[in-house]
Amino acid sequence: MANACGVDFGTSNSTVGWSRPGQSALLHLEDGKPTLPSVVFFNAEEDAVHFGRAALANYLAGHEGRLMRSLKSLLGTSLMDGQTEVQGRALPFRTLLAQFIGELKRRAEQAAGREFTQAIMGRPVFFVDDNPEADSVAQQTLADIAYAAGFKEIAFQYEPIAAAFDYESQIDREELVLIADIGGGTSDFSLVRLSPARAKKAERRDDILATGGVHIGGTDFDKYLSLACVMPLLGMGSRLKNNSEVPSSYYFNLATWHTINLAYTQRVWHQLKDVYRDVLERDKLDRLLKLIEHRAGHWLALKVEEGKIALSDAASTDLHLDRLSPIHTLRLERVGFDAAIAHLVTRVESTVSNLLCDAGIRPDQVDTVFFTGGSSGVQLLRERIAALVPSARRVEGDLFGSIGAGLALDALRKFG
Ligand SMILES: Nc1ncnc2c1ncn2[C@@H]1O[C@H](COP(=O)(O)OP(=O)(O)OP(=O)(O)O)[C@@H](O)[C@H]1O
Ligand SMILES: [Mg+2]
Repeated sequence: MANACGVDFGTSNSTVGWSRPGQSALLHLEDGKPTLPSVVFFNAEEDAVHFGRAALANYLAGHEGRLMRSLKSLLGTSLMDGQTEVQGRALPFRTLLAQFIGELKRRAEQAAGREFTQAIMGRPVFFVDDNPEADSVAQQTLADIAYAAGFKEIAFQYEPIAAAFDYESQIDREELVLIADIGGGTSDFSLVRLSPARAKKAERRDDILATGGVHIGGTDFDKYLSLACVMPLLGMGSRLKNNSEVPSSYYFNLATWHTINLAYTQRVWHQLKDVYRDVLERDKLDRLLKLIEHRAGHWLALKVEEGKIALSDAASTDLHLDRLSPIHTLRLERVGFDAAIAHLVTRVESTVSNLLCDAGIRPDQVDTVFFTGGSSGVQLLRERIAALVPSARRVEGDLFGSIGAGLALDALRKFG
């Protein structure tokens, strides 16, 4: 049994892996499930904090409080040192994040029946695009939080290298593999030589031909789907009496998971009351004001995400928006979704083609493309990535578990 665990703190879901002979590495973190959704709900009525699925259920049941999802997206941004307010009390984001990592550790230890002081923590190839300084601040912040949560020794590993180790444990010959980990916050890639013999080496630097990534993931797909199809129902794009548009910032905040709470400030409320006086389509602004009054921003974002996921398997889906007033049923079409995210897909695609180019690898040399991460379910994205390596075999890993399982292998190798 390994001494250390692997911690995959994800934008949407987190896992903890621990290598044990003959058993799945993933520890059960909530209701017998290996994932703990990366969600914190601060319940103001009970003055209590809830995590994961329970946090979502608590929020959706209508309790007064603050929900935070996509906390990882705050790392490396100026918002990280900010806070959200609950009944006049400031709740620093840093505290919420530390509570979540602490809870992950506690639950993993309970499932394993032992303490973990050493861990390999996963990290995206870039927390922040094109800004190495902000990127290292992000890693340091996460390290500080992990130490504050009780880990004594940690090391970081790129998430798409961890996924590679997980895939390597399943093959019986050498392969040149493109790993594609499309998660909630980032799309991460590695180009690696894998084989059972290479897996035994302590030093893998020569086997890693390239790593790359971009800060685009499922939360961005939710955002652009929402902006294109849902926010117009709440008045986005509507005109004021002077013919200018309602400011779009309110809608951007509501469509972006980690900024939803910014729509709930007193200042925004007063501004929107002013906008309401001047807007031509008052019914839409009414919807927006009621949504904010009921703190239903996360409910709406969850509905949009549900619709997006349904579009992975269907050409269209109906969203029953029963907390909007009046209630509205919205039909979402795959073609509309594809158009809303086309610019993001193109950026992810060019990240992969640059990576192949930098590594000096011809597309036909790649044997396998390995998909993991929930957003690899987005058909358009998967097709476009696979098309870059047309002769590669397509393999789908455990979409939510490969990183945690691979980090567990890495932890065994590094800490014994
Ligand atoms: N079938 C599906 N089709 C499309 N998207 C999906 C599907 N299932 C889940 N997702 C999306 O996948 C994302 C979560 O994936 P995952 O758990 O791999 O991310 P993460 O590891 O938390 O994020 P990251 O690694 O970027 O920090 C969410 O945005 C979710 O909406
Ligand atoms: Mg991930």
